[in-house]
Formats: sequence, structure tokens, C-alpha cells
Amino acid sequence: MAHGHKNNDEEKVIFVGDSRVRKGSGFITPPDYTAYPGKSEAFIPNFLLKEWMVGVVVLVGILVLTISEPAPLGYPANPSASVIPMPDWYFLFLYQYLKYPYASGDYVLLGVLGVSGVAFGALLLAPFLDTGKERRFYKRPIASALMLLSVISVFYLTNVAWTHYEHELEASGQKPEHIQREEEALEKHEQGLPTSSAPGQQQEVAIVDKDDPAMETYKKAGCIGCHAADMKGQGNAPSLRGVGDKHSQEEIVTIVKEGYNGMPPMYDQAIAQGVTDDEIIHLTEWLAKQKAEQ
Ligand code: HEC
Repeated sequence: MAHGHKNNDEEKVIFVGDSRVRKGSGFITPPDYTAYPGKSEAFIPNFLLKEWMVGVVVLVGILVLTISEPAPLGYPANPSASVIPMPDWYFLFLYQYLKYPYASGDYVLLGVLGVSGVAFGALLLAPFLDTGKERRFYKRPIASALMLLSVISVFYLTNVAWTHYEHELEASGQKPEHIQREEEALEKHEQGLPTSSAPGQQQEVAIVDKDDPAMETYKKAGCIGCHAADMKGQGNAPSLRGVGDKHSQEEIVTIVKEGYNGMPPMYDQAIAQGVTDDEIIHLTEWLAKQKAEQ
């Protein structure tokens, strides 16, 4: 068989690892590690290529997770509630640091640019300043001391920020909204009631046959005074939307005639308002039809 023409140079092309990246003789020439097989490798491009592969796999994994498991929505913000604004816990130390007089007010530029500039500048310069061969931390007093100092100050500032916040809460008698909601939910749970009271999380139940003449009776008989025009209830009076899931028509007749716990008997009053028996029967039938699921 005749082989195609092959350039000598092409045969000698060496790739990095199992990639298609050619091992070049670019401006960075990796040192020759062939004397230590498997022990070490060039940072560029060998090591970076491996890192990138791992990075891509992790990134795709995270993307798949975020797509398959959408972030839950919290409860809607309540603009009338008074809150003490707080950053997430991992920023508490910065938050606290920026409260100090020499990092805020007239000195805010120093606080924001000066100190962080020094800190990040030092991090950037570290590879050039800390060039000793020694790797054990106790033999590198300056680098270790700076690291230790940073860790201690982060812990200290976080703690101060949190204690301050708790004092503020106590002094103003406030309770963070999520804790308040949690306590309310726990209370309801202990009483065996549904715990979800967050508006928007509860499913909106529509009125069945909104234009039915029973709606007129509902107004005339005075139900509207407590259960509201939209039938969502108010005060102690519960929503009558979906009430058919709870009570049968016979039960509702009884409720109207005899009252129901906190609700007074309504029958006599309704008759006095000129509502007929038939209309009341129709109203109760219509209410019994009010079901959340059709
Ligand atoms: C004075 C206020 C008031 C008026 C007027 C009133 N209700 Fe009520 N109703 C209540 C209260 C309060 C409850 C809750 C009772 C309880 O569970 O303690 C209730 C409960 C009910 C329930 C049971 C709901 C449930 O979730 O268990 C039905 C059905 C009902 N009312 C129908 C009517 C009808 C029909 C009318 C008009 C004829 C009417 N109500 C007028 C206050 C009122």
C-alpha cells in the first residue's frame, strides 16, 4: 500500500497529555522533567490543561444542578417592616471594619481603597516577596504571622458585628422577619393548622360561578359584612373561597341557621332583610360548589 506523503515535521509533533494542544517551544519553555517521570510537569500548558478540564466538568455539574433545582423564592419583601440591614455572614467582618471611624465618614476612601489596596497588593506581590525555598509555616515567620493575623481579625470582626447586631435587635425590640415567620409557623404547626401563611405561596382559589344570583343573596343576607366582597374573609371570618371542600350544603345550612363558633346565626337576620328561604338554599348550594379543585 502506498502511504500518503508525510512531512517529517508533522510526525514529530508532540501534544500535551491527551489534548490537541501542541507542545510548543513558545516564549515559555517548560523545564525538562523527563528525568522525573510522573513526579512533576510544566505548569503551562500541561498543568493548566488538566485544571481546565476539571474546571469544565465542575462548571457543567453546577449548571446542571442550578437548572434542575431552581432556587426557591423567599417570601415577598415587606416594605413597612423595620429592618436592620445585615450582609451575609461571610461579609460581616468587612461590614464591621467599615464601621470604624478611620474606615468610614471622611476616611471612607482610605478604608475602602487604602486598606484593601494594601491587602490585595500584598497578596499579588506575595509570590515575588515570599520566595524562600522553605515550605514549613513555622520557618516562614512573616508570611505565617500575616496569615494568622488576617484569620484572627476576620474571626474577631465577625464576632463583633454579630454581637452588635444582637444588641441592636434587643434594644429596638425587633425580631428579624424570617425568625418571626418561623415562630408563627411553629406555633401553627403545634396547633395542627396549615403553616404556610406567606402570601403568594398560598394558592389563590377562584370564586366558582361568580355571576350566579347567589352572589346577590350573599350581599343581601349580610355575609359580605364579615366574609368580605371578594369572599376572602377578614378579621376572624375565614375565606369562603373553596369552602365546599370543607362543608357540605347541609352543613352550610346549619351554619347559617345556628351559627358556627365565632359566627352568629344569620338566618333570622337574612329573612328580615327580605331574603327568601329559596334564596338561602340556593346560596348554600352555591357555597357548597365553591371548591378549590374542579
Ligand atoms: C358577624 C360576622 C359574620 C357574618 C355576618 C357571617 N359570618 Fe360566616 N363566619 C364568621 C366567622 C367568625 C366564622 C368562623 C367561625 C369559626 O370557625 O370560629 C364564619 C364561618 C363561616 C363558615 C365556615 C367556614 C369554614 O371555613 O369553616 C361558613 C360556611 C360561613 N361562615 C358562611 C356564612 C354565610 C353563608 C353567611 C351569610 C348568611 C355568613 N357566614 C355571615 C363570621 C360571619
